[in-house]
Amino acid sequence: MTVLYTDIRELVTNEPANADGDPLGIISDAALIVDGPQIAWVGRRSEAPDADARVSCADASVIPGFVDSHSHLVFAGERSAEFAARMSGEPYGAGGIASTVAATRTADDATLLAGVERLADELLRAGVTTFECKSGYGLTVDDEARSLRIAKAVTDETTFLGAHVVPSEFRDDRTAYIDMVTGPMLRACAPHARWVDVFCDRGAFDVDESRHILTEGMKAGLDARLHAGQLGPSAGIQLAVELGAASVDHCTYATDDDVEALAAAADTTVATLLPGAEFSTRARYPDGRRLIDAGVTVALATDCNPGSSYTTSMPFCIAVAVRDMNFTPAQALWAATAGGAAALRRDDVGVLAAGRRADFVMLDAPSFIHLAYRPGVPLVRDVVRAGKHLNERVESRS
Ligand code: NIG
Ligand code: FE
Repeated sequence: MTVLYTDIRELVTNEPANADGDPLGIISDAALIVDGPQIAWVGRRSEAPDADARVSCADASVIPGFVDSHSHLVFAGERSAEFAARMSGEPYGAGGIASTVAATRTADDATLLAGVERLADELLRAGVTTFECKSGYGLTVDDEARSLRIAKAVTDETTFLGAHVVPSEFRDDRTAYIDMVTGPMLRACAPHARWVDVFCDRGAFDVDESRHILTEGMKAGLDARLHAGQLGPSAGIQLAVELGAASVDHCTYATDDDVEALAAAADTTVATLLPGAEFSTRARYPDGRRLIDAGVTVALATDCNPGSSYTTSMPFCIAVAVRDMNFTPAQALWAATAGGAAALRRDDVGVLAAGRRADFVMLDAPSFIHLAYRPGVPLVRDVVRAGKHLNERVESRS
């Protein structure tokens, strides 16, 4: 059955051909036709062909569903006291991860699954129609494998992050932990994961360790992505480029050489910026405009996790990116949609065009600019994912 969505005041397609080469490809006074899970047609309302059913968007703006390429949803407990301490002046460090690891290990599967489903629902209600989810709070063979099995219940974009930190029981023998990550843990986790990731930063893993872990993960058939440059300058950013990783995430302390390397690798490696992490750790913000002007492909993601960024709101991330990271509203929206799709190497999402997945968000606003102009206001009126409205049962997964 085909459905015509019409009366769209402003339609962001991310298809430059729709708007004389402008990246957002905006069509005013637009319509689109959905056929099952896919888009069948996009264009001016006055030129729309017939369809079996019709939905008026009543002058809403419509944008592609957000693509959140970085989240850590499988955990138990919460760390609001740690957040409060930071807001009173304590610094953020990788060490806080240990408390979530302890809570996650003792939680049963049903508790972890309920947490993941709650956060997946929050993401969807905030307009996220595709998201990635990492393990990394289990850090034993069994707890990492079950974390990925649970993540698989809500997304196919699952990432093995056994190398999040070295857990306390291996404090005196990190080599033994890395051997376990690249041996039995990788074997148990690879069947449930698409990606391998490492937290390459102060207090976690160094560049040589990260290279080794990512290389072993790639040999096991996983594609690489990397956390680097969150807590200080890091050769990890260029390691990600060297290994052809799909994305290097945080990049808060990217140097000029890093930016040059990322620009040269713009077709392969995306720089994913995570405004929620800087916000929630009261850290300096990276300059998104500097990366974009140099030619780097940039994504924005929530980094939803209980320690450094407990948000599922992409509109919040967009508002911060615009206000504090020098993105224009258009650059921020592109990074949160098409940029996220590039970071996950997906060409079926992030763009509204015939043949792509019917993932879009109706905004109670005359323009997408309101996402940053009206921060904190719930502008998401409705979400359609794979052709289904938010409140219908979503059957297919990311
Ligand atoms: O992406 N940087 C590593 N991991 C998370 C933080 C995890 C935590 O503090 O629990 C992040 O910010
Ligand atoms: Fe992260």
